[in-house]
Amino acid sequence: MSAENPITQAAVDEAVQQALSAIAEAADLAALKASRGTTVGEQSAIAALNALVKNLPNEFKAPSGAMIGKARGQLNAAFAEREAALFEAEEHAKLAAEAVDVTAAGQPTRIGARHPLSLLQDQIADIFIGMGWEIAEGPEVESEWFNFDALNFDEDHPARAMQDTFFVEPVESHLVLRTHTSPVQVRSLLERELPVYVLCPGRVFRTDELDATHTPVFHQVEGLAVDKGLTMADLRGTLEHFARIMFGPDAQIRLRPSFFPFTEPSAELDVWHPGAKGGARWVEWGGCGMVNPNVLRAAGIDPEVYTGFAFGMGIERTLMFRNDVRDMHDMVESDVRFSEQFGVTL
Ligand code: DAH
Repeated sequence: MSAENPITQAAVDEAVQQALSAIAEAADLAALKASRGTTVGEQSAIAALNALVKNLPNEFKAPSGAMIGKARGQLNAAFAEREAALFEAEEHAKLAAEAVDVTAAGQPTRIGARHPLSLLQDQIADIFIGMGWEIAEGPEVESEWFNFDALNFDEDHPARAMQDTFFVEPVESHLVLRTHTSPVQVRSLLERELPVYVLCPGRVFRTDELDATHTPVFHQVEGLAVDKGLTMADLRGTLEHFARIMFGPDAQIRLRPSFFPFTEPSAELDVWHPGAKGGARWVEWGGCGMVNPNVLRAAGIDPEVYTGFAFGMGIERTLMFRNDVRDMHDMVESDVRFSEQFGVTL
């Protein structure tokens, strides 16, 4: 008669029950993983029973081994199942926490607005491009020759002092920050084939303090036409067309005799602006005239064959009286709330 098998089904069942409840109680993946050693691993009750098998009498080894093997299979399956369930629950919770409501209203961010001076400059360019003119540009650091000499400013002509010039050091470089866009006239005549019809918008510099009506850096737009047979009537017609698009179909212009070294005759250009705040009135808008023969000669053009007209005006000033901007500071401070009033937001 053989002895009793010391590894009973009851002992195995108890070891399994203990481990199953520990697996079931693990509240999350971390707790479950921490329990691995004592539920299914080498520190578990079932592993302890298994360790006894090798010392059993031979007749008990196979049935006990089978009993414990089955129990371990059951525990491993329970562990894996619990692991999968906890993983899914945690993943689900994570996704729920990270969920984005795609229907929620966005947080508006201000990204800016185009500056009204740029808009006005583009609008002026478009008017002239519409008449077949071209856009010309020149450098902001300009040689004195283009800024003054070629434009017929005499060496000690008072007109040279009329403009408050930033000279670039060293003085022998004969460079200045251009005081007007007029040097682009001569550059265009030297670079292009005749006839020339160019509009030259750009930044100019004068030694003025920033106040309500002045700024040391501002913008001008220059026009130049050189062709055979151009007269003051062409100048007038061009400016009238420009004024009507800029200030409305009822706008009028008038020319008052004046002096600029690079035009002869020269005139101040006034515009009667029906939409002006405070009622329709005449406003000084710019300068103009017939290109002085000396300027044509400086560019190698025969003034007996070709004539030309030119005009120039400030873009800030145009914006001020067209849109009733009272203070230059508003135009240089880049406050987007100012720009936004002019419509084009980005
Ligand atoms: N360059 C002049 C200034 O800055 C403006 C000007 C006057 C331009 C007459 C012209 C012109 O083209 O013909 O004051």
